[in-house]
Amino acid sequence: MIDINKVRNDFPILHRTVNGKPLIYFDNAASSQKPKVVIDAIEKYYETINSNIHRGVHTLSQLATDAYEESRFKIQQHFNAKHAHEIIFTRGTTEAINLVASSFTSLINKEDEIIISAIEHHSNIVPWQLLCERTGAILKVIPMFEDGSLDMETFTNLLSDKTKIVAVNHISNALGTINPIEEIIEKAHAVNAAVLIDGAQATPHEKVDLQALDCDFYTCSAHKMYGPTGIGFLYGKEEWLHKLPPYHGGGEMIKEVTFEKTTYADLPHKFEAGTPNIEAGIVFGTAIDYINEIGIENIKAYEHELLEYGTEKLLEIEGLKIYGTSPNKTSVISFNIEGIHPYDIGTIIDKLGIAVRTGHHCTQPIMNFYKIPGTIRASFAFYNTKEEIDALVEALKKAKMMLS
Ligand code: ALA
Repeated sequence: MIDINKVRNDFPILHRTVNGKPLIYFDNAASSQKPKVVIDAIEKYYETINSNIHRGVHTLSQLATDAYEESRFKIQQHFNAKHAHEIIFTRGTTEAINLVASSFTSLINKEDEIIISAIEHHSNIVPWQLLCERTGAILKVIPMFEDGSLDMETFTNLLSDKTKIVAVNHISNALGTINPIEEIIEKAHAVNAAVLIDGAQATPHEKVDLQALDCDFYTCSAHKMYGPTGIGFLYGKEEWLHKLPPYHGGGEMIKEVTFEKTTYADLPHKFEAGTPNIEAGIVFGTAIDYINEIGIENIKAYEHELLEYGTEKLLEIEGLKIYGTSPNKTSVISFNIEGIHPYDIGTIIDKLGIAVRTGHHCTQPIMNFYKIPGTIRASFAFYNTKEEIDALVEALKKAKMMLS
């Protein structure tokens, strides 16, 4: 059970006003808010142990290194990876996907095939297009149905011994669809293709067990999980991480450098060139502790209640259409009101203190599928309330009246 008053008190920003109204934050799929423990942990890092990691024998460097590696260990535990060195810190999901797509260059031949889906974020489309341009590989796309779910029969038919990697999201950022990733992984493995799951929208809402899933790569971003921006991770199965060449060259990722030849560091450092975002890496662990304190199952159940309530209430508005109606979805509601541009609604309801995302949500192919310029997206977190949803409905009615 979520103690809503308690959790709302954990987030200082929820007590501010915007344009003279209490903030109602419904843009959680873009970035979540941060609890006080996360904000305090950032301050504590700079006040007590700030220094570079893996490099110094001095006390602060060792303390910072220990804290950073402890966070990696927490991530391993939380997501049930087999080894901590299978967790590579990155700037976020985008960098993690680019890492894999870039490092795959040497493993891909002309005419090999890469499969993505019609409901991917641009960050899980463009890196694969770049890989195809470099190698002559062919990009195939799993089509979507009207409700925002994937056409799994066509997916099965797309698979062949030419398929080298399948990259799909766990949950769609624009529609909230939860994809049948277990089935996708199993079918892709049956043709010996690797599978990358973009977990950016799933990890704040779902329990993810990497060993049970058996995917080859999984990515996520801390800032959507109540943690800091600029940090995330790539999970890669050990054998894949050994097989792939490094992504960035620089300090930290080497064993020995001469002008003739460089040998690379062991995992995970082989993929972690340069000074990382140390404070964010450490505080990512704090955010995971916070999620576990609330309980991911409690979060999921409460957010589902908000999804059902919000869907019902929003549909009471005449002319409102929801995009993404798959039975298996998370707490994201994308919608439009007939005859009104999403930006206009977003601008008006911002004046009433309500934050939503408007536009194509970095998923232009989805917008092309529905033949719309964009949507208004309300995405809920466990600190949102039904009263806030009521306020959104009232604000939308007001905006509709002003704009029609
Ligand atoms: N990917 C983020 C979103 O969906 C930024 O808004």
